Amino acid sequence: MGFSTTLTVNGVTQTIDLDDPRVTLLDLLRERLQLTGTKKGCDRGQCGACTVILDGRRVNSCLALAISHDGANVLTIEGVAQANRLHPVQEAFLAHDGLQCGFCTPGQIMSAIGLIQEGQAGNDPERVREGMSGNLCRCAAYQGIAQAVLAAQKILSAVSRKEVA
Ligand code: FES
Ligand code: FES
Repeated sequence: MGFSTTLTVNGVTQTIDLDDPRVTLLDLLRERLQLTGTKKGCDRGQCGACTVILDGRRVNSCLALAISHDGANVLTIEGVAQANRLHPVQEAFLAHDGLQCGFCTPGQIMSAIGLIQEGQAGNDPERVREGMSGNLCRCAAYQGIAQAVLAAQKILSAVSRKEVA
């Protein structure tokens, strides 16, 4: 019996045939859509390297079955920059030296974008650390990450205030 799921990934809607209903969203992104920016660290929901935004919420894509999210909207690290312009969170990671290794950084950026969208970033580095505690790496640039999230949050909330005004 064949299975399929229809997803809008980074603005592109497509129906993907699945030979097994147990295919995770992470494996579908990496192996079927060649979107390898989303990383597989632990593959069991513990490291956050696979974080994507699914229907507006941060999720560990290694724990999400692709078939369970038929019709969903998915944003991955490949979709956050617009027309050669980096996302403000990406710019803030650069400006605050928040870049860590290629394995954890995409998940940290997606988690930061989600945290800000959820209105949970606040103004306090401790709150940012708590909000991003599902992204496990604490290597050298971690201070920079907390600062980058705070800075990006200020920029994005100023932009949304302007849009409302
Ligand atoms: S790979 Fe998904 S949480 Fe680690
Ligand atoms: S796991 Fe990426 S820098 Fe620590």
